[in-house]
Amino acid sequence: MNKNELVAKAIEARKLSYSPYSNFKVGAALLCKDGKVFLGANVENSSYPLCMCAERNALYNAMMNGYKKSDFLSLAIAADTDEPCSPCGACRQVISELFPREGEIILSNLKGDIKSSNIEELLPFAFSGDDLK
Ligand code: THU
Repeated sequence: MNKNELVAKAIEARKLSYSPYSNFKVGAALLCKDGKVFLGANVENSSYPLCMCAERNALYNAMMNGYKKSDFLSLAIAADTDEPCSPCGACRQVISELFPREGEIILSNLKGDIKSSNIEELLPFAFSGDDLK
């Protein structure tokens, strides 16, 4: 599956968004080495801090289906933004724990703008489990 196809899946995932408070739909699609794709969308709550982002839902969806960090190849994120949609700080921290360093993170929007990145670029000097030793 190429980059554009994975972005199309992330745009498709936006349809699953439950976002009655922000009306901001985000979709994510996580591609695994075996070709399987897991989707995620943001799921909000009237108690705002309980909202969950699309990227984290995609990663958790994959993990709840038995997939792990070493199975993941790339992660696409899509929203209706002017610039390719960038993951929030909380998602960057979760991505740094659960998604491989060498994995591609594809930021996109509905206009077809695409930007490729990785977690080292998005979250330099990350806190990690190694710091707890
Ligand atoms: N959101 C995501 O799903 N991913 C991000 O990286 C940025 C923010 C969601 C959370 C909330 O439901 C809405 O977008 C507005 O912040």
